[in-house]
Amino acid sequence: MPDWLNSLLKLLQGSALGEAVRNAEYLYPVLEASHILGIALLVGPACTFDLRLLGFGRRVVSVTSAARNLLPVSHVGFVIAVITGIALLSAQATVVVGTGAAPWKLGLLILACLNVLVFHGGIYRRVHEWTDAAVTPVAARIGAGVSLTAWTGTVFAGRLLAYT
Ligand code: HEM
Repeated sequence: MPDWLNSLLKLLQGSALGEAVRNAEYLYPVLEASHILGIALLVGPACTFDLRLLGFGRRVVSVTSAARNLLPVSHVGFVIAVITGIALLSAQATVVVGTGAAPWKLGLLILACLNVLVFHGGIYRRVHEWTDAAVTPVAARIGAGVSLTAWTGTVFAGRLLAYT
């Protein structure tokens, strides 16, 4: 592990936040429950939108309408997951980052975020051309596939943090 990362993790672990999360009764389980709530608000709507990109519900809702109603919820979920995740990490950051699942979780989380940027910066800019199309463009379906895989993988890696 690079020295700068190790020092950063030690700083987070030694902080007042780390102290509080380790010692305050019930704070860790409350943070974990909030983390799971954030994950549900993030992954639920994001994966539902991905399924729409793959053609599910195309007779019911357009791609733009699905995005307008689902993606803002997933953004709120992402913010909750990141804030509670960093708080959970502060309890024993150097231990969690040393687990076998941690690099997978970080890698899949980065892949999921990069995929969002590539999708919205690329094919989605021309969504007005295909919002009601029977079949969405290949780039949109690839984006949906990467998203479904990366978010599902992050969930599995997150759970495996305590077991590896
Ligand atoms: C900066 C972002 C994040 C950080 C620092 C982080 C950190 C953590 C930590 C330290 C734990 C506790 C491990 C334990 O005690 O078992 C955890 C649990 C978990 N994380 Fe994250 N997380 C982040 C984002 C996410 C996201 C975006 C997802 C899913 C899409 C996710 C999925 C999970 C899952 C499924 C668990 C296990 C929860 C449980 O069963 O109690 N995490 N995370």
